Amino acid sequence: MAKVKIATTNDVSADKVLKTSANGQSVIVAKVGDKHCAIANKCPHLGLPLAKGKFENGVITCPFHGSKFEICTGKNVEWVDSFVGIPLPGVAKKIMAMGKAPTDVASFTVTQEGSDLFIDA
Ligand code: FES
Repeated sequence: MAKVKIATTNDVSADKVLKTSANGQSVIVAKVGDKHCAIANKCPHLGLPLAKGKFENGVITCPFHGSKFEICTGKNVEWVDSFVGIPLPGVAKKIMAMGKAPTDVASFTVTQEGSDLFIDA
């Protein structure tokens, strides 16, 4: 792993995620309170990108099937809840989950030097 610059503090806002990359890996970064946080831009359900999902209160919702993740920890807080924004009933959630158990998304510790933000990737 190497320390990689992913953004500057001016690039990142509190109300939306910034898609960036580190060593060829797609990453999303956001500001939550006074803290900068970053997770992989890859939903652990089917490996699809999270970046265009709704971001609210430090949680990003996968735009495909509604799984939700805390951007500061990667913790899964909801697993396969909808299909392209349309809520699913219980049985349909299980089918859509395709046997995959709830899983956290990879997260990164963000460090700051001046206005530059870094992760180890
Ligand atoms: S790809 Fe994200 S919940 Fe299915």
